[in-house]
Amino acid sequence: MRKQIAAANWKMNLTLQQGEKLLDDIIALPHDLKEYQQAVFAVPFPYLAMAQAKISGKGSVFIAAQNCYNKKSGAFTGETSVEMLQSLGISYVVIGHSERREYFNESNQFLAEKVNICLEYHIHPIFCCGEALNIREAGTQNEFVARQLEESLFHLSAEQLQNIVIAYEPIWAIGTGKTATSEQAQEIHAFIRSLFAKKYGEAVAQNLSVLYGGSVKGSNAKELFLQLDVDGGLVGGASLNAEEFNTIITSLK
Ligand code: 13P
Repeated sequence: MRKQIAAANWKMNLTLQQGEKLLDDIIALPHDLKEYQQAVFAVPFPYLAMAQAKISGKGSVFIAAQNCYNKKSGAFTGETSVEMLQSLGISYVVIGHSERREYFNESNQFLAEKVNICLEYHIHPIFCCGEALNIREAGTQNEFVARQLEESLFHLSAEQLQNIVIAYEPIWAIGTGKTATSEQAQEIHAFIRSLFAKKYGEAVAQNLSVLYGGSVKGSNAKELFLQLDVDGGLVGGASLNAEEFNTIITSLK
């Protein structure tokens, strides 16, 4: 069975003290994760070491960075390298979130470079894709998402691809309270899987975890995650509340 993941993306929220309390509260709740299920917390850079220390020894819980730079090291003031993340023991990095694409002009090519460095340092990219509302309304979301994936990931070998997690996050559903219906999610997740099947073969595609993001909440997680090609979620707002995120974790199939 491919990995089923409930991933929290705290974005630029919470103080250190609030973040510590939230993690403590969630970790204290019972989860009984199966061996193919994971909870991942993408926390702000200054909290990575704290978060990594808190989850140490908990086999199914992992910490992610929300970003990294596309160069290995050097005179890039203010940036964070993948090697730094590796030295903290971080397992995942969110790459290409729509907020980074939009506010920091991150291109598919630039993201491909980040993916390469992550893989070199054995850190799993959670690679985000997804269309804006005007593209959805024009009905060209499949072509749009295909291009994002092809330009950033299709240079990888089948072996490398196995270390990637995909997160489909329609921009029109992020932070809007408007969720894709489970049918819409299933349809595009199946399309994403079919793209990888065509390029890498069915076995590789069947092994690829594809998460849904966009107003996932305790109340809708179960129905979304029940879809055949939805392997969990990348969660913003609802991940800032322990009870709510706990319900999302326990909604994994
Ligand atoms: P919301 O869950 O707040 O819509 O955010 C989704 C997201 O962007 C997760 O990366």
